[in-house]
Amino acid sequence: MAIRKFEYKDLESVVKIAHDSLEEKYTTDFFLHLWSIAPDGFLVAEKNDAVVGFIITIEPCINELRILMLAVDEKYRGQGIGSSLLREAILRHPETRRIYLEVRVDNKEAILFYKRKGFKIKQMLPDFYTDGSPAYLMEKILF
Ligand SMILES: CC(C)(COP(=O)(O)OP(=O)(O)OC[C@H]1O[C@@H](n2cnc3c(N)ncnc32)[C@H](O)[C@@H]1OP(=O)(O)O)[C@@H](O)C(=O)NCCC(=O)NCCS
Repeated sequence: MAIRKFEYKDLESVVKIAHDSLEEKYTTDFFLHLWSIAPDGFLVAEKNDAVVGFIITIEPCINELRILMLAVDEKYRGQGIGSSLLREAILRHPETRRIYLEVRVDNKEAILFYKRKGFKIKQMLPDFYTDGSPAYLMEKILF
């Protein structure tokens, strides 16, 4: 398995993984927009020439990293790919002191994943998603 920066040819696979994995639905243009504003924060995991997961992070301010999306193709979960994407995103931003994200309060699998990685729930954000669902703000202080 390799982790590398997103390329245009990955678009279809990323859109499919996001659509199948995430409750919130995003347009293809939205991924292109994120790529344009954060080309270094858009990473994909590749296995046998197929894209099997991705992570998108942005740096809202110095020393902070926000995870916008992280998803692994269901068939490839539980093999360490999500962990590798998260690790690589952090490694590529060594100045990061605080990393944070929002996650649906009912997304038990993802909340457990982030807790295993040392993230803590800091706050509930009501009415966060377009369907009115709340999110947890989770964060990890690196140093
Ligand atoms: C959250 C997600 C990205 C994790 O990806 P993954 O590739 O399955 O994660 P990993 O294989 O690296 O597993 C991470 C940990 O969870 C454990 N784990 C993975 N799948 C598991 C399962 N089905 N049941 C229990 N534990 C599981 C692993 O043992 C591992 O623990 P460790 O790091 O202590 O060894 C993936 O579940 C996913 O895409 N979910 C849908 C999209 C989503 O909800 N994204 C987050 C929204 S913010």
